Amino acid sequence: MGLYSTVMEAVAAYTGLSPAAFFTILAMMVVMYKIVCGMFVDPENHGASASKAVDLAASFRPPAEPVQLGNVTEEQLRSYDGSDPTKPLLMAIKGQIYDVSPGRMFYGPGGPYAMFAGRDASRALALMSFDPKDLTGNMEGLNESELEVLQDWEYKFMEKYVKVGQLAPIPNQIYNAEPKVKSSQPVMAVGDQHDQ
Ligand code: HEM
Ligand SMILES: *[C@@H]1O[C@H](CO)[C@@H](O)[C@H](O)[C@H]1NC(C)=O
Ligand SMILES: *[C@@H]1O[C@H](CO)[C@@H](O)[C@H](O)[C@H]1NC(C)=O
Repeated sequence: MGLYSTVMEAVAAYTGLSPAAFFTILAMMVVMYKIVCGMFVDPENHGASASKAVDLAASFRPPAEPVQLGNVTEEQLRSYDGSDPTKPLLMAIKGQIYDVSPGRMFYGPGGPYAMFAGRDASRALALMSFDPKDLTGNMEGLNESELEVLQDWEYKFMEKYVKVGQLAPIPNQIYNAEPKVKSSQPVMAVGDQHDQ
């Protein structure tokens, strides 16, 4: 094997390494190269990385104009929670549905308020609550100050987002509740003396 021994001699002469050490180092460099390349593009599947780039481009394209939907059921509203990137992000307050797509960083998947998307979040907003049981349009039993908080949220949404429809009224669901005065209840908060 003249060629084999010539290569081994050349390796030893040029690198000062034994052929075994040289090929071990060479193999490690190839592995490192593959790992580093894999961080940037998937070497197995350039098609997939190309479609990832398209997804990225899609997420940066100018937002679609809000589409008016009219009456929507709660179930229909659920499908606008951001899980389908081709659909707008919708959220309701007091049964009024807003296109909150411009607030995708708030309400989109992984956003801090993603749980509100596709829902009427009236109760959660009124109570400033992230409790899943408050993720409803039911405003029953909210007191005056809680309704005031909700009103402020509604004004903010009216100002910031486009209204695109309303939830079809559901029997037994109170959207315009009269404030319930809980005067017979003791004041729980410590240091809340200014409360009449
Ligand atoms: C832990 C305390 C909280 C902090 C530090 C916080 C912080 C923030 C900040 C910095 C913004 C962005 C404001 C803007 O740029 O317009 C924001 C927006 C918002 N927050 Fe909070 N927040 C808190 C609690 C809550 C709670 C309890 C709720 C309701 C249950 C809530 C609901 C919202 C909503 C709906 C928006 C988005 C409004 C929009 O679409 O522009 N936040 N919050
Ligand atoms: C929505 O429903 C209400 C009553 O349920 C009805 O009066 C109204 O015309 C409907 N609006 C649309 C846009 O369908
Ligand atoms: C409404 O309820 C909240 C929480 O229970 C309480 O802190 C607040 O003082 C109440 N406000 C009024 C006006 O009753």
